[in-house]
Amino acid sequence: MNDRRHDSRNQPRNPASRRPFAEDFSDGKLTEVHSQLAREKEEPQEGFATIPVFIVFVFCAFGFWAGVYLTRNSGDFSAATFDLDAVKVVADTGPKAFEPDAAKGEKLFAIQCASCHQATGLGQPGVYPPLAGSEWVAGDEARTIKIILAGMVGEVEVKGVTYNNNMPNVGAGLKDSQVANIATYVRQAWGNTSSPVMDTKVAEVRKSIGARGQYSAKELLSEHPITK
Ligand code: HEC
Repeated sequence: MNDRRHDSRNQPRNPASRRPFAEDFSDGKLTEVHSQLAREKEEPQEGFATIPVFIVFVFCAFGFWAGVYLTRNSGDFSAATFDLDAVKVVADTGPKAFEPDAAKGEKLFAIQCASCHQATGLGQPGVYPPLAGSEWVAGDEARTIKIILAGMVGEVEVKGVTYNNNMPNVGAGLKDSQVANIATYVRQAWGNTSSPVMDTKVAEVRKSIGARGQYSAKELLSEHPITK
């Protein structure tokens, strides 16, 4: 191995490329190499060089990022942020109590109800009754809840117009809180002005009616008369 390397240095494969040692380091050659190196160097300058715009931009971007980071993670520079006891107090309060949320109700309505009753709450003439201004949505919240949980079938008069169709038990598969939010939304959207609905009320109604078929308008009216 060693021998071979030694050999190849002393006997180059191409004898023409071999030059006498003295010529490689002659004065002329040295000066030429030096002047080449000198040409590739930058000219010396007086004073300070200006900072490239790119670097200035990078610094500004970093400053901006740092500002955003501090705003988000400084915890208002409050010492209590790192007070473990304070954290414990928050954790001890348990899950937040339910509050009727019409905005959540609106999203659920779009998925569960709007295909028939429309996002406008106006329904479809002769097919789907309106919820906007409907006397069935106003007043006793138990009526609204029952319709959503169990559905409704047969003849029903809404705002002076008679419908005879079929609404499935859309709410049967939804959580109490979801039904409460939908009910709150339909009772307060499109100019409706009825009270919000709590999840506990939905649970209560769900338990009282059990698993059952759709309501008729007559049955609903006998349990929750419409007061005008
Ligand atoms: C598949 C279509 C359909 C869907 C989905 C639907 N409904 Fe209905 N809904 C009807 C029909 C049809 C009636 C009238 C039933 C009848 O003729 O007895 C009705 C009646 C009602 C009524 C009583 C009448 C009135 O206009 O006020 C209310 C309140 C109501 N629906 C609310 C809802 C809510 C809230 C949802 C969503 C959770 C919903 N409906 C989903 C078709 C639907």
